[in-house]
Amino acid sequence: MAIDIVILAAGKGTRMRSDLPKVLHPIGGVPMLGRVIETAKQLGDVKITVVIGHGAELVRERFADSGVQFVEQEEQLGTGHAVAQAIPHFRDGATVLVLYGDVPLVRASTLRQLLQESENGPALLSVIMDDPSGYGRIVRDKDGQVQAIVEQKDADAETLKIDEINTGILAAPGHLLAQWLPELSNNNAQGEYYLTDVIARSVRENIAVTGVIGSDAVEVAGVNSRIQQAELERALQRDQAEVQMALGVTLMDPARFDLRGTLECGADVTIDINCVFEGSVKLGNGVRIGPNCLLKNCQLAAGTVVEANSIIEDASVGEACNIGPFARLRPGTELANGAKVGNFVETKKAKIGVGSKVNHLSYIGDAEVGDDVNIGAGTITCNYDGVNKSKTIIGDRAFIGSNSALVAPVEIGAGATVGAGSTITREVSADELAVARGKQRNISGWQRPVKKS
Ligand code: UD1
Ligand code: CA
Repeated sequence: MAIDIVILAAGKGTRMRSDLPKVLHPIGGVPMLGRVIETAKQLGDVKITVVIGHGAELVRERFADSGVQFVEQEEQLGTGHAVAQAIPHFRDGATVLVLYGDVPLVRASTLRQLLQESENGPALLSVIMDDPSGYGRIVRDKDGQVQAIVEQKDADAETLKIDEINTGILAAPGHLLAQWLPELSNNNAQGEYYLTDVIARSVRENIAVTGVIGSDAVEVAGVNSRIQQAELERALQRDQAEVQMALGVTLMDPARFDLRGTLECGADVTIDINCVFEGSVKLGNGVRIGPNCLLKNCQLAAGTVVEANSIIEDASVGEACNIGPFARLRPGTELANGAKVGNFVETKKAKIGVGSKVNHLSYIGDAEVGDDVNIGAGTITCNYDGVNKSKTIIGDRAFIGSNSALVAPVEIGAGATVGAGSTITREVSADELAVARGKQRNISGWQRPVKKS
């Protein structure tokens, strides 16, 4: 079935009080409109048209590569007027599905159900609400057949008591909408062209309307304010947490887990509280992540442990590594199996070999470190002269004494030793000892100056 999807995204979003167009605000790290587009793409043979207005340029730019097309609605004259802008893009014989850029959590399965019901006439998605105020009400006859949608502002006291509300999501044969939308009137309380008026029109034409009652209010909830955005964020995070737990991940507290991207875990992964996962993250079997960690676009192989308050970004980590607490692995870090990067250590574009240790208070950048190397506390690779970045190469089994400065470009050979406190500016050959620091002088009988009383 050919499905032409129209996503309404022209509204201003005044209550967000933001310079950013509303549909660009994120839920789970993805702009709301992006979520709707991704869901729409799951429905099969789709052509997606996004109706933009406020902040049109920013929305267009952000989704330029998403394969959707845009139509501009210069004045927001109502939802019916908005959908009508897309009529030139309707394909012959297609079903049209109307979605909203600010209703980000709608599920493909629900939409498929709605589409099935819309082959011959309109199908709308409704939900039952304890407090239906503000929404359009679904009016059914005594046989339960949908008759009309009446907006809150146009409703009489009897209609206001109806608790079945219109979510706004609707599917209908495209040729019917193409005929009816241009004929809508704006003779109503808001002076708008209501999409919802196509329901009564269909009934007048003796084309039955199907009302599909959804079971999940969160799925069809719209975002008009930061508070609603936060509510949907929590709902999404709870769902994502439950997916991970169902797959066998231990979350120390599912209410304090944030995934803004994708997370793939092996068996028996444990994630402590307040961790944030961004982009694409893969954790191997038995990986343990301590509290308050940020992991972005990285993979950690089996058995690796990340202690509290560590940050790992664009990095790849081998098996059984130990990271943190308070470590920062910046882009281009590659740890081989069994490597250790301890507290207050920062790495960037650094390869650290099998079993090598950088345990305390170091900066290792633009470096290649071999296997079984020990880098003492406070060691710094001086990789930047203010203009150029240069490389430090450290061979297998080298031992770098504490508080050394390795001035790049420089190479330390395999098995070499650097004395503590050295500033190394020249190559150290394999198995040599390099000591580059002031020689200690001891002066006996030295009198310290004394204060005159
Ligand atoms: C609409 C429905 C109402 C339903 C409610 C669910 C109509 C007439 N009413 O009401 O039955 O219960 O949604 O939330 O459809 N938009 C445009 N261009 C416009 C007007 C709106 O793009 O000219 C977009 C808005 O950005 C928004 C969406 O359409 O995302 C809904 O518009 P809004 O004015 O909020 O409709 P409601 O009054 O909430
Ligand atoms: Ca609304």
